[in-house]
Amino acid sequence: MQFKGLKIGVPKEVMSGERRVAVIPDTVKKLTAEGAKVLIEKGAGIGSYFSDEEYLNAGAQIVDSTEKTYAAADIIMKVKEPLFNSQENKCEVDMMHENQVLVTFLHPAAPCNHQMVKDLAAKKVISFTLDSVPRISRAQSMDALTSMSTVAGYKGMLSAADRLPKFIPMIGTAAGMIRPATVLVIGAGVAGLQAIATAKRLGAVTHAVDIRPDAVEQAASLGAKVIETGVPADIAVAEGGYARHLPQEWLTKEREAITDIVSKADIIILTALVPGKVAPVLLTKEMVLTMKPGSIIVDIAIDQGGNCLLSAGGEIKEFNGIIIDGSKNIPARVPVSSTWMFANNIYSFVAYLYKDGSLVIDQEDEITGKSLVTRNGQIVHAGALEAINNY
Ligand code: NAI
Repeated sequence: MQFKGLKIGVPKEVMSGERRVAVIPDTVKKLTAEGAKVLIEKGAGIGSYFSDEEYLNAGAQIVDSTEKTYAAADIIMKVKEPLFNSQENKCEVDMMHENQVLVTFLHPAAPCNHQMVKDLAAKKVISFTLDSVPRISRAQSMDALTSMSTVAGYKGMLSAADRLPKFIPMIGTAAGMIRPATVLVIGAGVAGLQAIATAKRLGAVTHAVDIRPDAVEQAASLGAKVIETGVPADIAVAEGGYARHLPQEWLTKEREAITDIVSKADIIILTALVPGKVAPVLLTKEMVLTMKPGSIIVDIAIDQGGNCLLSAGGEIKEFNGIIIDGSKNIPARVPVSSTWMFANNIYSFVAYLYKDGSLVIDQEDEITGKSLVTRNGQIVHAGALEAINNY
């Protein structure tokens, strides 16, 4: 049995506004069928509409405090990185113990998480981060980042539509014809493609920008009008097919290429990202000043610093009549779908790590090696080490 004798703890998420949870009754059934005891903190599923009773019926046990959940578990499965739990008046890391396994999104390279990662190492916690699962075909079922980017692109577009002071589709009215809104999506990766698809469904005239030819092709196949950046493929694409961080002169050329469409856009969705790097700045203050009052910018890339120079993490602000939305944690606002995807992804990841009730750590394996963050009291994650040493 894969999880024989293992106790899996699922604490209630503590980040403000976080409504997701790491397991759903279906995955509890799968874990218990393979010999695990699943300990769920009381009320952990409420934000995603799963009652304690549903978890009990699926074979879980309900635990009445966070501390007890952490204390009893061999493995902790959660959505967000360990944070301060104000109810217990303690950091979640302080509730963890030596050799406990943690699987979650840690974003270990982000400066705000460096101390937390050091604390996990000091506690000798074996931690894995789902944001470093490589985008390779055998890891597809574990790719929680792709799942969450899908939600962010969809909900980011919907929240912009909700704030826009006009219709999105073309509508014939008794007063005359209303022209459709213009949407520009910058970055056509997972989040961007979903934003494009959502904008098209809403009836917007949708434009897209990316520097990778593959992404451009996919955006066009969804019906977006592609804006050429003029950046040559050998400068835009790095090994493995990911985007490169552009040299300053090419970034300037790209900004020039999109200046005209920026001034015409009613909604701009920003999702441009270079893995492991700060997001490129593609909208300057001068460019935002050319936009019409009432327009909306949603900077989905905000966790990596954002693509608009004026956006601020966690804030929705107005500049010259333009709303600039730097909201974080967009997937938490679609908790039912996000939780369903996340729970299945994290289940597949944990199932990949365990054989016959034991954790198998093969650092040579691409999936395990890239996602492992702390082990034997050390930080072993390459991106985290580089970021911590250069900070
Ligand atoms: P991705 O890596 O699939 O896509 C990023 C795209 O940006 C790629 O297609 C890349 O070619 C493109 N890009 C890079 N440099 C560019 C440039 N100079 N100009 C135009 N395009 C450029 O990433 P994914 O999964 O779509 O995520 C996008 C962003 O959304 C990330 O920053 C991610 O962290 C963020 N995100 C935010 C959430 C939130 O709640 N705010 C939730 C989930 C994801």
